[in-house]
Amino acid sequence: MPQDLSIVRPQFPALARPEVFLDNPGGTQMVHASLDRMQRMMVDSNANHGGEFATSKHMDETVYEARQAVKDFFNADRAEEIIFGANMTTLTYNISRALARSFRPGDTIVVTRMDHDGNISPWLQAAEDRNLRIRWVDFNTETGLLDVEDMQNALAEKPRLVAVGYASNSLGTINPIPKIVEMAHAAGALVYVDAVQYAPHAPIDVQALDCDFLVCSSYKFYGPHAGILYGKYDLLDALPAYKVRPCSEELPDKFETGTGNFESVAGVLGVMEYFDWLGRTLGEEHYEKLSKKYKGRALTLKQAMYTLHDYDQTLNNALLDALKDIAGISIIGITDPTKLQQRVPTFSFNIKGKTPQEIAAGLARENIYIWDGNFYALEISRRYGVEGTGGFARVGAVHYNTLAEIQKFGSALKQIAAE
Ligand SMILES: Cc1ncc(COP(=O)(O)O)c(C=O)c1O
Repeated sequence: MPQDLSIVRPQFPALARPEVFLDNPGGTQMVHASLDRMQRMMVDSNANHGGEFATSKHMDETVYEARQAVKDFFNADRAEEIIFGANMTTLTYNISRALARSFRPGDTIVVTRMDHDGNISPWLQAAEDRNLRIRWVDFNTETGLLDVEDMQNALAEKPRLVAVGYASNSLGTINPIPKIVEMAHAAGALVYVDAVQYAPHAPIDVQALDCDFLVCSSYKFYGPHAGILYGKYDLLDALPAYKVRPCSEELPDKFETGTGNFESVAGVLGVMEYFDWLGRTLGEEHYEKLSKKYKGRALTLKQAMYTLHDYDQTLNNALLDALKDIAGISIIGITDPTKLQQRVPTFSFNIKGKTPQEIAAGLARENIYIWDGNFYALEISRRYGVEGTGGFARVGAVHYNTLAEIQKFGSALKQIAAE
C-alpha cells in the first residue's frame, strides 16, 4: 500500500474536505463507486421488486449482482446465504427472534462483555421472551483480551448459541474467532459473529471460519447505511422467518422484510467494485498465495482486504506513537508494540483532568474528528468504571488516513492535554 495514498484518496469525494476523519469506527466516508451506484439506481432503476418493466428489472438485476459480489467478498457458498437489511442491529433482532423460536425454555445463550450491545441486547431480550438462560463471558481489563478459558467453561454448560464479536469497537481487540468457532462447534453450539468492526480491516472467509452466522454494516466500510448478514444455507432455510404472508418462503426473500433499501444495496455493490479495483491495483503481492485458493472476483476482493490489513499495522504503530507520550493518558487494550497485529487501528483512551467530550470538542475545533462516549459497548465502559462519566475518547483510522493526519491528531491532542 503506497503511503502517499495518492490513488486511494481521490476515490473518496468527502476527503477533499478540510477535516481529518478519525471517527471511522463510528462510520467511514463513502467511496465514489458506491455513491455513483446509488445515484444510478435512483435515476435509472427506481422501482419496486418483481415488476415486468425495465426499471424494476434493472433494480432486481442490481440487487442480484450485489448479492453475488458480497458472496465473493465473504467467500460464501451461495448467494442466497446473503441477507440485506437496515443495519446490523435490526438484522440481529430479526435473526435472534427466529432462532429463539427454535430454542427450548432453559436453553443457554452465551454473550460476551466485550461486545457492542447490538450483539448483546437482542439475545438478552430473546432470552426474556423464551425463558432462556444467558451466560456472560468476560474479558481481561489488563490485557484487553477475551477470556477464552471462561468461554471454554461457558461451553461446558452446553449452550445453543455463542454471540461474539470479531473485533471490539471500543478496545480494538481482534478475537480468535476461528478457535472460538471450533470450540463452540465441539460443544454443539451455533456461532453468531459480529464482524462490524472487523470487516473494514481484514479478509473474511465464512467457509474457512465455518461460522454459522456473520453480520456487518456497509457504512463502516465506505458504503451506505445497510446491514449484511451471512448465514449457512441449511440453517437459514430451516429457520422460521417473521414475514408477511404474501412474501416468498424462499431464501433470501423470507428474511428481507418489507421493501428493501435497494439504493443502499446498490451502494454495497459499488463498494465491492471499489475493493475489486483496489485488489487488482494495489494487491499484486498477495496474488500468488491467494490465487491458489480463490478465483475471479473472490480473489481480487481478498487481495484488497489483505492489502488493507497490511496497512493497518502501519496505522496501529502510528496511532500508538501519537498517543503514547501524551501527559496523563490511559489507553485501554493492547499497547505492546509486538502484539499490535491482534488489534484493529481503533484506540480508546482517557486523559487525566479532561472529559472525553472535552477532548473530542477540542480536536473538532482543529477540524479533527473523533468520537467520545461508550460507543454502545456498554459492558466495556462499565468494566473500566467510566460509564456515566463520559466513557472514552476513541480514535480510529482506516486505509484512507495518512500518517500526516495521524501526526496532526497527535500534536493537537498533546496541546489539549497540556491546556
Ligand atoms: C462492533 C459493532 N457491532 C454492532 C454495531 C451496530 O451496527 P449497526 O449500526 O449497523 O446496527 C456497531 C456500530 O457501531 C459496532 O461497532
